[in-house]
Parts: sequence; structure tokens; C-alpha cells
Amino acid sequence: MIPLEDILQKAAADAHALSLEELERILSADEKDAERIFAAAYSLKVRCCGRKVAFRGLIEAGNVCVKDCLYCGIRRSNGKVARYRMDVEEIVRTAEVAHRLGYGSIVIQSGEIESAANSDFIEEVLLALRPLDLGITLSLGEQTEDVFRRWKDAGASRYLLRIETSSPRLYSALHPADHSWRRRVECLHALRRCGYQVGTGVMCALPGQTMADLARDVAFYAEVDADMIGMGPYIPHPDTPLGKDIVLDAADKARRLFLALKLIAATRLYLHDVNIAASTALQALAEDGRERGILAGANVIMPNVTDTCHRAEYALYAGKPGFDETAAAPRLAESLRAIGEEMEEGRGDSRHWANNVQNVESQGRR
Ligand code: 5AD
Repeated sequence: MIPLEDILQKAAADAHALSLEELERILSADEKDAERIFAAAYSLKVRCCGRKVAFRGLIEAGNVCVKDCLYCGIRRSNGKVARYRMDVEEIVRTAEVAHRLGYGSIVIQSGEIESAANSDFIEEVLLALRPLDLGITLSLGEQTEDVFRRWKDAGASRYLLRIETSSPRLYSALHPADHSWRRRVECLHALRRCGYQVGTGVMCALPGQTMADLARDVAFYAEVDADMIGMGPYIPHPDTPLGKDIVLDAADKARRLFLALKLIAATRLYLHDVNIAASTALQALAEDGRERGILAGANVIMPNVTDTCHRAEYALYAGKPGFDETAAAPRLAESLRAIGEEMEEGRGDSRHWANNVQNVESQGRR
């Protein structure tokens, strides 16, 4: 068997250098090997992104959702959640909070709604946000290419649409029959055609998921040429078909966090210059989960700027942090300084995307 050190060296030298078997080996590593893997991924993160973390203020703009994903707390069939939707003013007010905190970008996320009225509404929101001059990421589910294009024209520059799993088989086990893995992939291609920085990602520790599935997830990111990756551990929600009767004990939580960190490291080692988020779900499993995500190769944190009055209603999973991150912002900055990192100024565009744009331009000049 090739020594781990050789695999890590090969990965650091070139993007896309590892085979599926080598990715699997990274994902299956024990604690001792994982320390070396995290160190290699972190030094690559520092090489690609510096000792900087890009912040995006996360706005959970509404929990009305047409989807019925078997794992998600805001699925359509969960009658226990009170549904809400922010209006334009509330979204702008929340974006101003992010702006005041010095975050160069925001993410507007909500359950999926596909309607002409909602498309108009989001367009109105984007136009109202223009004076703040923030980088805007949308995370609003599957839409038609026309709608993606309108929102891009109105001022959005990035779009997050997790594929959830790159395995069509596993996807169909986790979703009702009318949810289409193929359409999601097509949406990712449509987003690219519209000129967005494209973000995708998966959950790990899903029931029925293998290490080979996760290795293929990482390869999938390269296949769709993703600019940004957001991943996190699956955390059961009691009011969902997949999560009912499941309560995680401390050992389960630690295992999920460990796997999620290895997945971040494998993704950095395979893709190099993309933006990778240390997701909120990491923080749900351990107080310092996001900092550990950075040390495993992530370079983006998305502090939740949503007013705490909506938090209980945006519980995608059990134990989702509901505290006031705006008040805690100085503490987060402090804990990043403690690991030698600081907040990146500006919008924190994906370097992968910027490098691609430069290549296309220089080819055009030739
Ligand atoms: N555990 C972890 N992540 C979840 N998501 C939805 N439900 C859960 C859960 N139970 C994630 C999905 C989705 C993102 C917004 O939240 O990956 O894309």
C-alpha cells in the first residue's frame, strides 16, 4: 500500500491528483492518520487562501418549502413548524446587520418555492439590497434557468445548491419519488451558464452511505467544476421520517464530526482553490466545530444573522444553534485569532472562479 505521506504529497502538488481509492483512504483514516491529513489540508488552505476566513452573514429568509426531503426539519409534511417568510424590509434590515459586522457577503437561504410571485419577490429583494454593495449568494433551491438568470441580472453573484449526495441511488432513498437528482444536476449546469459562482455539497453520515459514495461526492464536485462547497454531517431531526426515534449520543456526535472534518480535508486536497464552508452543522456537534473545520481545510464561515425570533422555525436538524451570533461575533473573531486566522476583507470571491475567469479572458486575448 502507498504510504499516506506519498498520497498527501501528491495531493498537495496537483489538484484532482487522487484516485477514488485514495480519497476513500483519506475518508476512512483513523485518528492518528487524520491528524496528518488535517495538517496537509490546512497547509494547502493557507497556500490557496492565506490565513484568512471569509464571512457570509446567513439570512434564513423563510421556511416555507415545497420539498419533502425525508431528513429535513422544514419538509413540507412537517406540520409542527410554524411557517414564516420575511418581507423585503426585514431581509434588508437583516442584511444591514451583516454589513455592520463587516461581512462583505450575505447568503439568502429559504425553503424552496417555485412561483412567478416568488421570483418577482426575490428580484425585488435583490434590487433593494443594491445600495449595501454586498456579495450576494442565493440558496433558494431548484428553479428554471430563466429565473436563475433574472436573479443574476438583479444582483446575485453566487448560488448554493447542494446535490446532497452524488449517488442517484442514495438520493432516491432519501427523497420522495417526485424529487429528481437529475434535475438538480441540470440546475447546477444552468447556474454555470448564467455566470454564477456555483456552490454545491453533500451531507455525510447519511444512513446507507458508504465511504465509496463520499469519495465519489468529492469527484463529483470536480466534474461539475464547483467554485464553492458546503458540506455537513447529517443530524437526525425528530419530526422527520428519517430521524424519528434517533437521538445521538456523545460518541455518535464525535463520529459524525470526525467524518465531516475528513470530508472537508479530502475536498481541499482534491480541489485546492475552491471556497469551502465550515458549516453550522459542525457547530451543532461541537462548540468549536467550525474552528476545527477551518483547521481541516475550510475557509468560509457563515454566521447566522437571522433574528433569533425565527430560529426555532428554521430547525433543519435537532440541536441547530439558535443563539445570537451577532452578539457573539467578537467571540468568534477572537477564537479565530487564537488559531492564527483573521476575517478576510471584501466579498471573498471563490479563487477557483476568479482563476477560471482569468483563463477565459486570456484565451480570448490570444
Ligand atoms: N441534518 C443536516 N443537514 C441537513 N440539511 C437538511 N436537513 C438536514 C439534517 N437533518 C441540509 C441540507 C440542505 C441544507 C440547507 O441543510 O444539506 O441542503
